[in-house]
Amino acid sequence: MNITFDYDDAPTLLDFAQSDARIRGIRGPLGSGKSSACTIEIAQRGMAMPRMQDGVRRSRYAVIRNTFTELRDTTIRTVHQWMPPQYFGKFVESKHSYMIKGLAPATEIEVLYLALDRPEDISKLLSLELTGAWINEAREVPWAIVEALQGRIGRFPPVSNSGPYWHGIWMDTNPPDSDSAWYRFFEKQAWLPSFQQAQREGKMGPSMRPEEYAAQFVQPSGASDEAENLRNLKQGYYNELAIGKAKEWVKIYIEGDYGFIAEGKLVYPEYSDRIHCQAVDPVAGSPIIRSYDWGLTPACALSQMLPDGRWLVFDEIVSENMSADEFIQNVNEHCNKAFNGQVTFEDYGDPAGSQRAQTDKRTCFDIAEAQGIKIEPSIQDPKLRQEAVRKTLRTLVNGEPQFILHPRCQVLRKGFLGGYKRRRLQVPGVERYSEQPDKTIHSHVHDALQYGMVQYFAPALTNAPREDDYPDFGSGYDYAAEASRSEYTGY
Ligand SMILES: Nc1ncnc2c1ncn2[C@@H]1O[C@H](COP(=O)(O)OP(=O)(O)OP(=O)(O)O)[C@@H](O)[C@H]1O
Ligand SMILES: [Mg+2]
Repeated sequence: MNITFDYDDAPTLLDFAQSDARIRGIRGPLGSGKSSACTIEIAQRGMAMPRMQDGVRRSRYAVIRNTFTELRDTTIRTVHQWMPPQYFGKFVESKHSYMIKGLAPATEIEVLYLALDRPEDISKLLSLELTGAWINEAREVPWAIVEALQGRIGRFPPVSNSGPYWHGIWMDTNPPDSDSAWYRFFEKQAWLPSFQQAQREGKMGPSMRPEEYAAQFVQPSGASDEAENLRNLKQGYYNELAIGKAKEWVKIYIEGDYGFIAEGKLVYPEYSDRIHCQAVDPVAGSPIIRSYDWGLTPACALSQMLPDGRWLVFDEIVSENMSADEFIQNVNEHCNKAFNGQVTFEDYGDPAGSQRAQTDKRTCFDIAEAQGIKIEPSIQDPKLRQEAVRKTLRTLVNGEPQFILHPRCQVLRKGFLGGYKRRRLQVPGVERYSEQPDKTIHSHVHDALQYGMVQYFAPALTNAPREDDYPDFGSGYDYAAEASRSEYTGY
């Protein structure tokens, strides 16, 4: 059984396949053949491996997706469509591993499928010995994962057994937004100064040009004459797709350009940028409320209960890959600079932070306390937490909105405008959304905010109607109209 993959209709994907860069990214419109090309990469790289001492070419790749459902329904499906297990090897569903032996004689390629919403997958990822890794729909995956993976690739097979071989990370994605980590990495080349320094200091082994380290492959617009993969799409695919879509949507999904759009169901349809986003600064005399979310991407929201009962969120501290220790240090530095020691703080955190880390016997609360911050564990119940925020979004105090968000809180703001959302579930005929919001760069600081607000607004809520009892604004919510009504131009 052979696989034939034709690049004739997709020169960008051919360039991608011919590049040996350590970190490669494909960005392109919907249906442009990205995931297929990334799948073929596993086969190509696996077959090009040197033989180990026993004569077998072995390699191991992680295939990563943000959620388990999407991993199962999309990513695994694509891989198995190109390399069906009945012809090429053995897929062990319980372990999410696919051992491919049928591509060429004496060639063994192990594929490990991992989803970021499964904690067991994350801890596994951090200890894997890999040849390489593919991140599917990379804009949904925190950059911390890309960074962690860099230490895991080129580890299998051991060079002592096989000699040197190509290793690397490749990613494909629909366009992320223009202040994403992807944008900073591939467009701004944020890594270049440290790359150059490492080269100057001779710390990187064989010398490498920057384009051998990172390369982005950008596919042309689906609406252009150069559109790729048209041959494998139904006639008029992009034209039909564009019908009735907002300009921003077309720009991202058809033209393949950077952009930002709300998808799924907003967690807070009550938020109005025009009403709630105001440049109000904290006042002297009331405590500063800092609330924290832990995990791979710790975040902190800084709020204040104003004397008239309004809740002001005036700042946020977010991270992409940081230990709790480092993060707390950042919070301290930030607050020392901002408040000059003249204020009192109240601190609330995700109660899950009281679990001890595997690497370190201390909890996040211990770590913070060692740096002088005493944090109260807050309330876990996600619905109650969200409802605490929602309540203030709906309430007026002396004719003013009870909730105020300072525009400097960019991540929270984007979350309110659409980044913090519940995913549409693939249930035929009915419109249903995931119970919990998707874990995205916007969700962590929103969680953080809730841990603070739930302390103030939860008690009154326990008998109040829950979110489900409110009219369903979400699915019909016109994000584009809201954005154009408001002054918001921040993307
Ligand atoms: N070289 C090829 N030969 C035959 N069919 C192909 C080829 N490349 C892609 N296809 C088919 O085109 C369709 C779209 O491909 P694919 O899913 O890889 O695109 P994508 O860019 O990942 O799409 P999405 O943006 O939806 O994730 C699929 O049905 C796939 O099987
Ligand atoms: Mg795809």
